[in-house]
Amino acid sequence: MTASTYGYFDDANKEYVVTTPFTPLPWINYLGNDGFFGLISNTSGGYSFYRDAKFRRITRYRYNNVPMDSGGRYFYINDNGTVWNPGGRPVRTELDHYECRHGMGYSKFIGRKNDIEVEQTTFIPLKDWCEVHRVTVTNQGAASKSVKLFSSLEWCLWNAEDDGANFQRNFSTGEVEVEGSAIYHKTEYRERRNHYSFFSVNAPLAGYDTDRQHFVGVYNDYSCPQAVMAGACTNSEAHGWSPVAAHQLDVELAAGESKTFVFVMGYVEVEPENKWQAPGVINKEPAQALMAKYDTAEKASAALKTLTDYWDGLLSRFTVKSGDERLDRALNIWNQYQNMVTFNMSRSASYFESGIGRGMGFRDSNQDTIGFAHMIPSAVRDRIIDLAATQQSDGSAYHQYQPLTKKGNADIGGNFNDDPMWLVLAVANYVKESGDVDFLSYVVPFEDTPEVPSTIYDHLKASFYHVVNNLGPHQLPLIGRADWNDCLNLNCFSTEPNESYQTTQRGDSDVAESLMIAGQFVLYGNEFIAIAKLLGLDSDADAAQPHVDAMVAAVKEHGWDGEWFLRAYDSQSNPIGSSNNAEGKIFIESQGFCTMAGIGFDDGKAKQALDSVEKHLACEYGVMLQQPAYSEYNPLYGEITSYPPGYKENAGIFCHNNPWIVVAEAMMGRADKALSYYTRITPAFIEHLTERHKTEPYVYSQMISGRDAYIQGEAKNSWLTGTAAWNYYAATQYILGIRPDYNGLQIDPCVDASLGDIKITRQFRDAVYHIEIKQGGGTGKGIASMTIDGVAVDGDVIDYQTFNGVHDIKVVLN
Ligand code: BGC
Ligand code: NOJ
Repeated sequence: MTASTYGYFDDANKEYVVTTPFTPLPWINYLGNDGFFGLISNTSGGYSFYRDAKFRRITRYRYNNVPMDSGGRYFYINDNGTVWNPGGRPVRTELDHYECRHGMGYSKFIGRKNDIEVEQTTFIPLKDWCEVHRVTVTNQGAASKSVKLFSSLEWCLWNAEDDGANFQRNFSTGEVEVEGSAIYHKTEYRERRNHYSFFSVNAPLAGYDTDRQHFVGVYNDYSCPQAVMAGACTNSEAHGWSPVAAHQLDVELAAGESKTFVFVMGYVEVEPENKWQAPGVINKEPAQALMAKYDTAEKASAALKTLTDYWDGLLSRFTVKSGDERLDRALNIWNQYQNMVTFNMSRSASYFESGIGRGMGFRDSNQDTIGFAHMIPSAVRDRIIDLAATQQSDGSAYHQYQPLTKKGNADIGGNFNDDPMWLVLAVANYVKESGDVDFLSYVVPFEDTPEVPSTIYDHLKASFYHVVNNLGPHQLPLIGRADWNDCLNLNCFSTEPNESYQTTQRGDSDVAESLMIAGQFVLYGNEFIAIAKLLGLDSDADAAQPHVDAMVAAVKEHGWDGEWFLRAYDSQSNPIGSSNNAEGKIFIESQGFCTMAGIGFDDGKAKQALDSVEKHLACEYGVMLQQPAYSEYNPLYGEITSYPPGYKENAGIFCHNNPWIVVAEAMMGRADKALSYYTRITPAFIEHLTERHKTEPYVYSQMISGRDAYIQGEAKNSWLTGTAAWNYYAATQYILGIRPDYNGLQIDPCVDASLGDIKITRQFRDAVYHIEIKQGGGTGKGIASMTIDGVAVDGDVIDYQTFNGVHDIKVVLN
């Protein structure tokens, strides 16, 4: 299955196998799914944190360093003077064999040099706050050998932002303890913290270091740490400066012998009254209890097995076998995996997001749930509650909240007028998936009225009326600071380079309006009306309907440019995204949202808009955000014009919005176009572009440079992007057409013939459906016939009340 010079997919093991340490960019994986998280590259670079990558950073990582990807949990072998890492870096010694297997929640590194093989398997167990490294050293030679094995990592002094800035204080605060084979990091524990971390190993030490200057050396780096090169740690004790944790094990191996060591890096919280076991000596009991859970190779292996079983279970809820293994690979493994990661991280910590800038985004996290609700609906429910709790009673919302405190982030504030609508999407999708209609009555007070017992339904209503109450001169939604496109800053007018486009909004009587929010309002407004009806609140539904109808009319009257939908009206009420503009004549967002909302299906506008997307925005590497790119900075439009042409929001392929066109094309019944757009950006289909793309070939990236860029088709910002949830949603619910609804599962595929006949297993609530879709030789849109357990079904919805067991469904396409 080798598909590129850098690696290949191993689907049977649900792994991507990287075959060189020198990938075009570091290719990373995520560890952890319950509070304790790690980012780990294909050379074991990266860092770990507890819940909040800004406020509880455990290990240190230096972004944008030289060389790239500096800092990680590194293991070193010193084999009689030959020094190397099983992960192939940071020591650049050429290995006889290297591979990194990124799997579901773990990464495995196999390095071999001169008959010594090291296998390092790193994972975060399902329920514990620690990172386990199972390290097996094997002597494959015919003679016995003694080698030295070193571990190393560098502690972060907890607050990642302060750690990288406040050196005058931080060089004096570092504190550690060493007991047995465990190194404890306790900086600031003496004062306001009740947490510490540790790094231990289940074997006696030949030595250790806790002070970086002793372990690495003042003028060395991690590619040649002084202690490793010399073959001996110095038993240093850090006081201030930079505390590290490094173990030295002297390993004697007979010919053919293997020895396995288990290293555990953990995080512990202690109740304030039990912080100390003696004056100045930290209470190590909770740490020792955690170490004891992983103090043998068998225990570590069992925990790894529990983790992989867990993932097998999660991924079995939706599986597909089509005529194209690339589709199966994407949907069965990597897209779902990325959905979990985006759900957990929002946009906080990746190799492109420093983890200090952003917490959980209201807009982003709501959208992330649509790729994840089928996996763990209860987690989505909890997330929606946290998000709703940061909403105001007028429907507006904090744009972000910090995961540690769950409080809205005051530095960023609100006023992004698309935000409220995403809550409707998330709630509707969750209720359809889970059948948990009662959730709509669940009480979550608004942030500004904590004493009022508002329900989730009240939140949706507030979201709906936030748009209704904020219309502009054309009766279209006011954009506020920005809508989904954070860079279309129509009320910012910034000429001051140190001012943030993201936090500046000038003027109280803004007139700038968004056609994208207009489409969103029609789409999710209709959803709100359906929910009101579901609850029997017909008067609410009746009151809402005219607002939606009026919006459709406003879009048709003021939002249609002739061949496509306008994008916005600016602060002077001039159109943006019009053929009359010199640049930025056509934008993708309003084409996607207005058509997904069903606007213009009756009069040909939707079809014309999608044809215009194909004509003006589509290119080999995906669909560009707008065309032509802006060539100059324009304070009236803001950050979008700050980017050089072809990058990011200025005419890059901003992958997140491509699936909107896929959904719309599927609704339109154009199966070939829907699939074509889907495959242009889906990693499994574009492995051959890896060299150009540069980012990981198993996950979506936020952005691929567009036609105007110096290098076209180059991806950036991998992993944390709404593309993951949206493309999964588009492929499963609109191409394959397996679409949860309040009362059952709708089957409405739009499948190109190239995908052949398809078999799907879909767990839906407590039912399991085995669905066979056969090509019908026609358009591929919709069903010609459907049977359940051999009995013909009327229509295209499987009624959950009647069919809630295990069922065979056979579908013939039109
Ligand atoms: C980026 C956007 C992002 C925004 C908010 C901008 O610089 O271009 O993609 O949404 O920052 O963080
Ligand atoms: C990335 C941000 O995370 C998201 O919130 C925004 O919608 C897009 N960029 C587009 O600007």
